[in-house]
Amino acid sequence: MKILVTGGAGYIGSHVVRALVSAGHQAVALDDLSNGKQSRLGDTPLIQVDLASEKATALLVQAFKDHSIDGVIHLAARKSVGESVANPEYYYQQNLNSVTNLLVAMREAKVMNMVFSSSAATYGSPEVAQVAEDYNCQPINPYGETKLIGEWMMSSASKAWGLKTVSLRYFNVAGAGFSDLADTGVANLIPIAFNAIANEEPIQVFGSDWPTEDGSCVRDYIHVQDLADAHLAALDYLAQENREYSVFNVGTGTGSSVLAVIDTIHKVIGKDFAVDLVDRRPGDPAALSADVSRIESTLGWKAKHNLQDIVKSHYLATSN
Ligand code: UFG
Repeated sequence: MKILVTGGAGYIGSHVVRALVSAGHQAVALDDLSNGKQSRLGDTPLIQVDLASEKATALLVQAFKDHSIDGVIHLAARKSVGESVANPEYYYQQNLNSVTNLLVAMREAKVMNMVFSSSAATYGSPEVAQVAEDYNCQPINPYGETKLIGEWMMSSASKAWGLKTVSLRYFNVAGAGFSDLADTGVANLIPIAFNAIANEEPIQVFGSDWPTEDGSCVRDYIHVQDLADAHLAALDYLAQENREYSVFNVGTGTGSSVLAVIDTIHKVIGKDFAVDLVDRRPGDPAALSADVSRIESTLGWKAKHNLQDIVKSHYLATSN
């Protein structure tokens, strides 16, 4: 298939592009390069545009025709929980205008396949150790709200004009499949921690009084290469006639606390560093881990990497 990957020059998007090409698909990337880097794309063509801008729809319709696109993997989004709490209207503008523009253009150009990057942030703060897809979503920050509304938009388009769509609820994506695709942003725990160590600053642990085993927040860390492979499985699923589900968790099923992540970093790099226990961060749920039974049984996809692999791959990809 020929797939347009929005956010294709980003950390996750570029892993998806590379997985597609390795599996024999063709990819075209779309990215505004606000966080993405063209150098991650190699020979893959890039369309540079802000998907949330007014001009995006006409440009997309043309691009779908020019490149004979069969389907879209839509990753492009603003994705920082804390920033979304401070600037909700920006998150709604960016994350929902982009989905709207895409759907309008896809309908017009008759591009009928879509894998939507959703998030575990749609669940909010579930009161279960492992959350399944049919859990009642109650997001607790604007970022999660925009992702849940994005899923509803997929579902409405599917009913109205037959869009074939799957939403993948990513848990905490980290690690690197290739050195040149590593996460160079300093926006999530693992890159933030390595950055602090490099600058000889303490790693801050946001909250040590959460109702978890060691008092720090628990998340389900998923290797970016495993996540990229889940998109290939989702594309195969879209090709099936009768698809039972449209939403899948993408995680490992294992929760790790912030302190456990820090302990793993310590083991991987083999040297001491400072850690500060500080206040809770607004918008954080205490614990969020995936029930992965649906994706394993329906898509035949299972994560291959554990936390140690994730930390090690990030370290090796960024330490030179
Ligand atoms: N944390 C710290 N110190 C830091 C940074 C983070 O203690 O310096 C903690 C956070 O409080 C949280 C955990 O580490 O408990 C992970 O935080 P991240 O900011 O890395 O990630 P989030 O869980 O907030 O969000 C991430 C993605 C979202 C996605 C979500 C799904 O950024 O896009 O995972 O679980 F929706």
